[in-house]
Amino acid sequence: MHPLLSLTVFWLLPLALTLEEDSPLDCVPRRSVPYHRDNALLFREEGVFNYSTMLLREDLGLLVLGASEAVYALDLNDISKKLASVKWEVTQQQKDECKNKGKDPKLDCKNYIRILHETEDNRMYVCGTNAFDPECDYMSYADGKLTLEKKGEDGKGKCPFDPFQRYASIMFENSLYSATSMNFLGSEPVLMRSSPISIRTEFKSSWLHEPNFVSMAEMPESEMSAEGDDDKVYLFFSETAVECDCYNKLVVSRVARVCKGDLGGQRTLQKKWTSFLKARMDCPVLESQLPYIIQDTYRWCDPQRPWKDCLFYAVFTPQSDTSDLSAVCAYRVSDISKVFAEGKYKSPVPVETSFVKWVMYSGEVPVPRPGACINNEARSAGITQTLDLPDRTLQFIKDRPLMDHVIQPIGEKPLMGQLYAGSDYGAVQIPLATCGRSLSCMDCVLSRDPYCGWDKVTGKCILLSSSQSELIQNVKEGNASLCPHADPVKPLNQSIWPGGNLKLRCLSPSSLSETFWERDGRRLTSAPRLQLLRDGLLILNASDSDTGVYRCLSVERSKTGEYTTTVAEFQVSTSPVGVGDGNAILPEARTDGPSVAGLQATIGFLVVSLLALLAWNFYNGHIPLPWNCRKNREQPMEQEGGNSSVAYQHAPRLALAEDKPLVSERDNGTSNNNHAGEEAALGAAEEENDASKVNLPSVQINDESEI
Ligand SMILES: *[C@@H]1O[C@H](CO)[C@@H](O)[C@H](O)[C@H]1NC(C)=O
Ligand SMILES: *[C@@H]1O[C@H](CO)[C@@H](O)[C@H](O)[C@H]1NC(C)=O
Ligand SMILES: *[C@@H]1O[C@H](CO)[C@@H](O)[C@H](O)[C@H]1NC(C)=O
Ligand SMILES: *[C@@H]1O[C@H](CO)[C@@H](O)[C@H](O)[C@H]1NC(C)=O
Ligand SMILES: *[C@@H]1O[C@H](CO)[C@@H](O)[C@H](O)[C@H]1NC(C)=O
Ligand SMILES: *[C@@H]1O[C@H](CO)[C@@H](O)[C@H](O)[C@H]1NC(C)=O
Repeated sequence: MHPLLSLTVFWLLPLALTLEEDSPLDCVPRRSVPYHRDNALLFREEGVFNYSTMLLREDLGLLVLGASEAVYALDLNDISKKLASVKWEVTQQQKDECKNKGKDPKLDCKNYIRILHETEDNRMYVCGTNAFDPECDYMSYADGKLTLEKKGEDGKGKCPFDPFQRYASIMFENSLYSATSMNFLGSEPVLMRSSPISIRTEFKSSWLHEPNFVSMAEMPESEMSAEGDDDKVYLFFSETAVECDCYNKLVVSRVARVCKGDLGGQRTLQKKWTSFLKARMDCPVLESQLPYIIQDTYRWCDPQRPWKDCLFYAVFTPQSDTSDLSAVCAYRVSDISKVFAEGKYKSPVPVETSFVKWVMYSGEVPVPRPGACINNEARSAGITQTLDLPDRTLQFIKDRPLMDHVIQPIGEKPLMGQLYAGSDYGAVQIPLATCGRSLSCMDCVLSRDPYCGWDKVTGKCILLSSSQSELIQNVKEGNASLCPHADPVKPLNQSIWPGGNLKLRCLSPSSLSETFWERDGRRLTSAPRLQLLRDGLLILNASDSDTGVYRCLSVERSKTGEYTTTVAEFQVSTSPVGVGDGNAILPEARTDGPSVAGLQATIGFLVVSLLALLAWNFYNGHIPLPWNCRKNREQPMEQEGGNSSVAYQHAPRLALAEDKPLVSERDNGTSNNNHAGEEAALGAAEEENDASKVNLPSVQINDESEI
């Protein structure tokens, strides 16, 4: 429905695909990348919100973006560049009427752009909620200007009244297919085709029952069809199940479809769909009692292959609040199509007095088959359009639009456990792939990003489309066995003092890997003096026996096996500082000149960092100041939206603060009072070497820290 959303979703797919198949609920992304200006381009205009509707106009090089009361034309290559915009505001009179009907003037009585489609003559069709009185118009882009034609077409049934209600729409051959509510109260849901002849669904709970519309897609099913079938339009939605035999309301996911050539019936189902059929869709998540609910879909077709091989990817979320997992299931169009073409129907049966039970219909099915498009068989019987369909067929489908069969995803299970998506107060452009984040062939292949591959010649992980040479990649299984042996990592020299502490840093490129350490080829286990941390190895109260070659290795499992890489290597030796003066390295000698100087240097540094940290906290309002708390309250959006980027920008300073031993003294003061002094001495000698900064496991300052 929204191209960019789909892009986002599929950009995230590779991350999630790395999960092991047998643990769909194991939900660690392989790598997390914080939002930052350098990662994504942002467009937003001051005071304008709800950038919710998008239309990709590659022919014009535009991303057309609908927000509240405005439409923007943005540069497709850099959406932070606005090329044109047009306002579409509600009049004061419309606003007053909306308010008089009991709607919130600030929230509801605006014109939220909801429909944006390209028409055959290269213009665009736009609809907005228009203060609970939906209206549509034509819009064109020429000479760097967006122009609305002010046609003022009725938008009922095309665009929702209520901006908070979900809807779906699609347009071809100048016919708008829309799924929304037709009335002010939102109680008349329809699937409608607007022109040339308007056709819609019946107002019956067996057709649509408190639905939440999700998306629409078309399928060119007439192509090379032996049966002379028609093209179809699919609708994905969720609704309260009429067929549920349960006491409480149960929401289920559905796919419905109609035939493009449908003109409605002659007497029965006049101006209504004669081909509206729907079926339940399942995305079985192991631990869930209640079915997951469909939230968005993406149609994927290989242009070289027939429509039958197209897939629908759908995102599902739980209907209870007990879990925040989401799931993606993939469906074959041919599986869905087959259920509608050949499956059994469900039929209501009255039980006792007022109760209706839905069971599989096993009686005689009229000919032509109810809900089928007009095909060769119908044509040979003299039925060339739906207006010719017999009442028996039409009455059957009017009463039984639901199929008995439940549509299962490929493999009968979700593709993955978790999906990360966010809402935004602007529009964000994120590249499909940033292959450059992978520095080794192993990482490039294990990330299983379908857009990236390892170029043996240049020794880089690069975009598939930007390469002529053969690349190494294995998206399906993450088989990295073709990767050349990685260049050995450069060992770093590190020194220790007897009695001092040393941290050897090692950050694995993947959150799905495990790291372990070796000293002189022998695996290290955690000990009181040797702590294996997530980001490194900590040697406490060092002695001469701690010298040697330390290697940090990372093991990651894929479907084809375990892959081990060396992430870092350190040559640890006794410090050359104090050569000729054996006492200088002994703990007792800490009152010596160099150590005191080091202590002073570190404390000075600490004071500066502390001040910086304090200033930063004031700036962000973690510590309220009389003059800025009001400002914060006035701009909650600003605060929220800037959150991640602020956190990221300050990361270097925080990292500095993180390396300060002062905090460790506070946390661990009682048990180890002299640590600070020891570390200060070490810190002074090794000031330039970032990797060797001394640290303690308990040292942690995050951006929420209270001082
Ligand atoms: C529009 O955006 C504002 C600000 O984020 C939000 O409060 C409001 O609920 C949004 N309205 C709709 C219809 O989404
Ligand atoms: C590490 O020390 C060795 C000698 O002990 C030396 O040959 C080597 O160049 C040093 N490496 C670095 C990166 O300083
Ligand atoms: C450090 O190790 C030495 C022996 O190597 C030991 O005598 C001393 O007590 C240890 N210090 C601490 C604080 O654990
Ligand atoms: C991984 O790829 C190599 C080379 O293509 C192949 O020989 C090997 O069988 C594959 N391993 C698995 C487990 O599929
Ligand atoms: C801002 O950051 C805090 C702490 O990292 C987090 O709890 C909060 O959800 C973030 N807010 C947004 C809008 O990202
Ligand atoms: C202090 O350090 C010791 C080991 O050095 C650790 O076991 C302990 O948990 C730390 N105390 C705190 C409060 O972090």
